Amino acid sequence: MIRISKLASSVQPSATLAAAGRARQLKAQGVHVFDFSLGEPDFLTPAHIREAAVAAMNKGQTHYTPTNGTPEVRAAIARFYQKSHGITYSPEQILVSNGAKHSIHNALASTVGPGDEVIIPAPYWVSYSDLVTMTGASYVLIPTRLEDGFKMKPADLRAAITPRSRMLMLNSPSNPTGAVYTRAELEAIADVVLETGLAVLSDEIYEQLIYGDAKGTCFATLRPGLADRTLTISGVSKTYAMTGWRIGWAAGPLPVIKAMGNVQSQETSCPCSVSQAAAIAALDGDQSCVEEMRVEFQARRDLVCGLLAKLPGVKSFVPDGAFYAFFDVSSHFGRMLGGKEITDSASFCLAALDSAQVNVVPGAAFGAEGYVRLSYATSREQIRGGLDRLERFLR
Ligand SMILES: Cc1ncc(COP(=O)(O)O)c(C=O)c1O
Repeated sequence: MIRISKLASSVQPSATLAAAGRARQLKAQGVHVFDFSLGEPDFLTPAHIREAAVAAMNKGQTHYTPTNGTPEVRAAIARFYQKSHGITYSPEQILVSNGAKHSIHNALASTVGPGDEVIIPAPYWVSYSDLVTMTGASYVLIPTRLEDGFKMKPADLRAAITPRSRMLMLNSPSNPTGAVYTRAELEAIADVVLETGLAVLSDEIYEQLIYGDAKGTCFATLRPGLADRTLTISGVSKTYAMTGWRIGWAAGPLPVIKAMGNVQSQETSCPCSVSQAAAIAALDGDQSCVEEMRVEFQARRDLVCGLLAKLPGVKSFVPDGAFYAFFDVSSHFGRMLGGKEITDSASFCLAALDSAQVNVVPGAAFGAEGYVRLSYATSREQIRGGLDRLERFLR
């Protein structure tokens, strides 16, 4: 018998991937599922990006690259930050990894460990808690409320800090809520960070998927000295419909990026060479594809919010970014739906899948029991059909 390690035993499978797996099984049996589980754009990666990958392969760029990513891709990322946020990162301050999830793992593995606390505002992206646990550090959740737009207040942060606090994980726009902090709100948080000496991991992967008047903010730029204690995380997965290419990055203080590069060199050697070439085309190429996808996501958001408002017993919130709706279904707890008693968000989601073939993810996985997450990175037709099913199921 091979024993399972303490580390592996402490890790839960990703709830969103598990929900997608259940839907896949039903689809394999020929059932039509309205699948709102996965956070990945349904668009094809734009043609000029795919063509750059083909050209890279044909030029023989099919070998190991430098551990931290090619100088060219790191320079392209540095140009992006200069142009979009006026912040200067040298290419040496950038580490390209196999997706932003891997970047977050490298960042946590290089900065926290047993005895340390990492502060996470909840609801939070499913992987944050497990990625912290894998380092031996513990996480401290700061609950936020729908009535406050799912945003943490500076006083909440101050109250959560202990002598063991090492890092704050921020995510704006947020997965799962779609909440986008304003610049002023982030400045107030930055002041607490500077006062208390916390480090910050700012996950800005949805920064270009923002709607209406909301704006994306690069946290590291907000106050002098903040960049010295901030790791900015992002990638191409969401902005360019490139989830399968696995390219994400971290930008931050040189000593931390060097330590993260050492970790990565032992784990995976380097990110995929062909995908790095594709990422350069994405970052340096025509950005109209980003705007086209953003406009479509905004239309879907409006559609989803209009339909959610019609669902009985559901409290929802208009998200300013990302491609998720996060809504309160707790008024249905205690009811029988589809022949099953609904006791929590997990039983709600199972009943919705079994009885209405609608696949949404339990809020409990995001640290917010009572809620469910719906990803609207799917067609308007699916959105209309699925929400119609959900409405009939709830009635
Ligand atoms: C908030 C957030 N951060 C990071 C990621 C990871 O993205 P990737 O590893 O595909 O770059 C995701 C993906 O769902 C996300 O929602």
